[in-house]
Amino acid sequence: MNVKILPSLLAADIGNLEAAVRRAESAGADGLHLDIMDGVFVPNVSMGPAVVEMARRCTGIPLSVHLMMIRPDQYVAQFIDAGADSLLIHIETQCDVADTLAYIRDRNVRPGIALNPGTPAEHADPFLMAADEVICMTVEPGHGGQSFMSNVLPKIEAIRNASLKAGKPEMDILVDGGIDRNTGADCVRRGANVLVAGTSLYGAEDMSAEVHALRDSALAASA
Ligand code: DX5
Ligand code: ZN
Repeated sequence: MNVKILPSLLAADIGNLEAAVRRAESAGADGLHLDIMDGVFVPNVSMGPAVVEMARRCTGIPLSVHLMMIRPDQYVAQFIDAGADSLLIHIETQCDVADTLAYIRDRNVRPGIALNPGTPAEHADPFLMAADEVICMTVEPGHGGQSFMSNVLPKIEAIRNASLKAGKPEMDILVDGGIDRNTGADCVRRGANVLVAGTSLYGAEDMSAEVHALRDSALAASA
């Protein structure tokens, strides 16, 4: 099994965005994860389309854009124009999720759904055919540096099984929040194949060594 590692820019010093992006790229990351927070869906405000556009200018690696916004439908076009390669929208938001996923796909960007820790796996079922990715939050969204919630592990397995049942073995299942070598391996054992990690990677002295260690422990867990 192939496991992808996506450093989360939220944990980087984006005072020097170009250096932060290049640091992930040269560490061997498979892409970059950008967390967009609107201060309504989550009690924090982070970056907007301009940051995605600046990151796009600095790198060719895929940009995974996670919209923690109450009305993602009103902003997806801007993030696509900015250069997002995948767009993940929360199913707990106040928008027509199916319509928004269809629009994202029409624009040739990978559509994905995101689930808060308390949202049951079955709530993803109606959207599995329309999504290429599912992100299981393993912390309450809004801040980096929180502790991994192990009670989300059974949901990862349930979503992997539901994806297989829906005839989508290629579904990317991401985990996001408190991911490190140990928690990442636990998630891969349950069926995750993409690990988003902020603090454990950007906080590492040697990011490249940490990306490789995270990938090695994930691959060992998938064997
Ligand atoms: C949380 C964000 C995460 C965050 C993860 O709302 O969605 O992507 O950056 O950060 P760590 O790895 O520090 O928990
Ligand atoms: Zn995220």
